[in-house]
Amino acid sequence: MTIEQFRKAAEQLESDGLATIASAADLDALTAARTALVGRKAGRLTELMAALGKLPADARRDAGAAANRAKQALEAALDTRTAELAAAAPAPAALDATMPARHGWRGAKHPVTVVLEEVEEIFRELGFTIATGPEAETDWYNFTALNFPPDHPAMDMQDTLYLEGGALLRTHTSPVQVRTLQAFPPPIRILAPGNVYRRDFFDASHAPMFAQVEGMAVDEGISFVDLKATLNHFALKFFGSAKTRFRPSYFPFTEPSAEMDVSCGICHGSGCAACKGTGWIEILGSGLMHPAVLEAAGLDSTKYSGWAFGMGPARVALARYGIPDIRLLYDSDTAFLDQFAK
Ligand code: PHE
Repeated sequence: MTIEQFRKAAEQLESDGLATIASAADLDALTAARTALVGRKAGRLTELMAALGKLPADARRDAGAAANRAKQALEAALDTRTAELAAAAPAPAALDATMPARHGWRGAKHPVTVVLEEVEEIFRELGFTIATGPEAETDWYNFTALNFPPDHPAMDMQDTLYLEGGALLRTHTSPVQVRTLQAFPPPIRILAPGNVYRRDFFDASHAPMFAQVEGMAVDEGISFVDLKATLNHFALKFFGSAKTRFRPSYFPFTEPSAEMDVSCGICHGSGCAACKGTGWIEILGSGLMHPAVLEAAGLDSTKYSGWAFGMGPARVALARYGIPDIRLLYDSDTAFLDQFAK
């Protein structure tokens, strides 16, 4: 090869290369062109440089300069075309930087649990201790010791499931009164939360299984004044400004007995479906403990007296949060329950 031929070959490489680069339609085609033109192993420029070594020594300087011009022109064109094609390429479709991030799902306490914990806290400050008892109870603790005469109509309201071996699903937390009095000497102040069971319809204000919390105070000289003062203190602390009222009632295990209502959190007293038009929601039954209950537990009822209450935290939740139907508390619908997450 002569120096003239070499120069021609270098110019030919440059013009061919620039045409190829200009017509590369995408980055893949451009990469192929780069390899074919200036690739170190088998590119055309590498072939040309191999020919350079075979030229006479005095021609190599000019030949080298010619090859270098071609190389620089090709590389500059490759870089320019790369930038052009990269700018024109569409952005990857999968990334949408404006999409809001997913927030983690933390879970939250059920409204009935929130109520129970607050009730416990208020009574803990008054010196009450938490006590528990079994959900599968004996007839004696659930009824007999609580002064239900056999076949008394009061038991109709507390019909339940009887288990094999004579146990039953307790209908209230009141059996814990007797169990606690048998185990510990007065003075006693307890709060006994737990689940209870009744043959009730599942409607807007009833469920066949529900939570209760029992309260009891036994000592010498306990009177109805202690009961009312304690429950009013509770209502004030728990509901703030909500109104309460006591209504005379009947339970075999208390005498006298009273039910406590709080003003309905939905209609604020004017009457609605949740409060059955009365403006009030019944949240607990209470009374002075019947002497027969104290005696059944082994206490001298001429020396000791006490009060007790049984509260339904689900009813309390209805009144406080303005929930119109107790069944919502059983649905496990997170859209509903999320509203109470703190
Ligand atoms: N055990 C009663 C009920 O479930 C409530 C109650 C408890 C009433 C304690 C008076 C005293 O209806």
